[in-house]
Amino acid sequence: AAMANYVIAVHCGAGYHSRQKEEAYKTLCKSICLKVCHMLEKGSEAVECVTEAVKLLEDSKLTNAGRGSSLNIRGCVECDASIMEGKKLLFGAVGAISGVQNPIEVSAMLINRQLGEKLSLGRLHPSVLVGEGASQWAVANGIHKMDPRLLITDESQKTYNNHKRKLDSHNQKVSKKRKIDHQSDDKNEEIEDLQEDKDVVQDTVGAVVMDTRRNIASAVSSGGISLKQPGRLGPAAIYGAGCWAYNQRPGKPGVGTVTSGSGEHIIRTVLARECAMSIQRENNASLGLSQGFKQSLLESEFLSEEEEKYAGVLALVHNEDNTAEVLWGHTTDSMCVGYMSSSLKKPKVVMSRLPTGGIPGKSFTMLGMPV
Ligand SMILES: *[C@@H]1O[C@H](CO)[C@@H](O)[C@H](O)[C@H]1NC(C)=O
Repeated sequence: AAMANYVIAVHCGAGYHSRQKEEAYKTLCKSICLKVCHMLEKGSEAVECVTEAVKLLEDSKLTNAGRGSSLNIRGCVECDASIMEGKKLLFGAVGAISGVQNPIEVSAMLINRQLGEKLSLGRLHPSVLVGEGASQWAVANGIHKMDPRLLITDESQKTYNNHKRKLDSHNQKVSKKRKIDHQSDDKNEEIEDLQEDKDVVQDTVGAVVMDTRRNIASAVSSGGISLKQPGRLGPAAIYGAGCWAYNQRPGKPGVGTVTSGSGEHIIRTVLARECAMSIQRENNASLGLSQGFKQSLLESEFLSEEEEKYAGVLALVHNEDNTAEVLWGHTTDSMCVGYMSSSLKKPKVVMSRLPTGGIPGKSFTMLGMPV
């Protein structure tokens, strides 16, 4: 394979993507690859490029990140976003932040501060900021303050109304039943599951880049789950869970990973880090990713009580012979991936779906491509 000078890979969520919107998802990934490749050609750095890629994902109404995010139980948008860079191994994250258009820009700013001079009296710059403190810091550092309602789309409002109505009517039924029975007996209760609302189950979006200096950076962003508790942190804000980046070093391939899917499972398995380390340990990207997925997720002792484990991982690997690969694997119904490199003439986009007979949450599918 031709040696790639730079690589960009993006995905717009591992979850369920309807056939009806498939083309729109693919077009989004394609246009981001083209735009970011243009930046890479001109010498832009990995952190700047993943930030731009994720910013475009956040701005799209199609994704559960930034504008169009799922709403929390109070009907508000609260976002998580983080970046890791593979040279100095720095991490910047914001959690449960509202009132900024692009949470990923705040994460990038946190990394840039860490690259600069220390604060007065030798104090270190923060890596992770949450809630009010995060939005105040962002605004104090020049990020435009935004009316949080502007991040709500007609569609996300409609989904919220629908989910909230289901929850309220469920709660009403339960309390009525308690009054009659004195104790609740839910054997005959029809339990509705919001997870079955298929068209909206997608999670964290992400991007991984290797720039012309062979620096790797990865970035993720998410609006979290529908009707979440205000203040809930998802994997996109948590170190090692949502993203990982590590430049090639003697004896070790460079690798960047981003994850998506069932947040609580990804957090408790530190999935992005585990998959990246498995790839480095095996020194064979495909074997490393499939082993990582199997051992860290599907057979994890940390999830032994869980029947179904929904996750997707997108990985970029920079091998010691200077070849590069893009890989993706998922147990979710689908995952939409786009990638491009200096040696590919056009961006490639794939709507990866579990093969026929595959069971979401239990079966795993994976593909890797040289770039
Ligand atoms: C990497 O592992 C896969 C199995 O997942 C195997 O098919 C392939 O031959 C291995 N590649 C190398 C170069 O050893």
